[in-house]
Amino acid sequence: ARVVAVLTAAGSGSRLGLGYPKALVAVLGRPLVAHAARQLARTELVERIVVTAPGSHLDEVRSAVADAAISVPWEVVAGGRTRQESVGIGLAALAAACPGAAPDVVLVHDAARPFAPPALVARIVDAVRQGYSAVIPGYAVTDTMKLVAPALDAAGTGPELVAGTADRTSLRAVQTPQGFTWDLLVRAHAAGEERARSEETAATDDASLVEAVGETVWVVEGDVAALKITTPHDLAVAELLAAQVLA
Ligand code: C5P
Repeated sequence: ARVVAVLTAAGSGSRLGLGYPKALVAVLGRPLVAHAARQLARTELVERIVVTAPGSHLDEVRSAVADAAISVPWEVVAGGRTRQESVGIGLAALAAACPGAAPDVVLVHDAARPFAPPALVARIVDAVRQGYSAVIPGYAVTDTMKLVAPALDAAGTGPELVAGTADRTSLRAVQTPQGFTWDLLVRAHAAGEERARSEETAATDDASLVEAVGETVWVVEGDVAALKITTPHDLAVAELLAAQVLA
């Protein structure tokens, strides 16, 4: 089965507050996008990687991926305004790069999760190959989860109101890479694009687009090493974990 991947790295990283894209932030002297590309390539399962980059930093992302010196063919394309748009652009680039025979399995992975272990990537690919056409990594949450309503004061900066408590035992925090049969993800994205045009909504992961077309999504065990870097705190944690995780 032919496995390809979209590596999303077109985000601005505004919550890190560094003034340049998150994918270019270095941990252990290497940009996040380079770590993520290396982790995907290390599995020796992925045949092609399309990286979505901010249009303003195409060259910088290209040289970051080039420095990663991976053996898998790759290209960098300009992403869209939302993650969903970026993945759609990545899928189109993969389709164009594989004329004739479409890939069988596609992974979508966030450069913001630079240390997703090869074993996790392999677990996702294996499950898709076994016939689960949409597979995502998830882990049980340890915090109690509340639904909240906005604060009541005029400025909206006061305490929020609790509107309910979720049943923690049935909640999973989900990660990437997410894996799909090629045809299913392409169909789910086409439907999602349609909705985005009429409703101005965008999905924060690809599995939700598959859910929206009524297909089943399956969860397999995630990995704490696939942590997502969003805030300066996450970056500090990643720096501490990196040496251990990449060993
Ligand atoms: O914003 P968030 O951290 O949820 O982004 C998740 C991933 O999607 C990141 O790797 C980011 O680079 C990517 N992204 C993208 N195109 C966008 C927005 C985010 O590829 N327009």
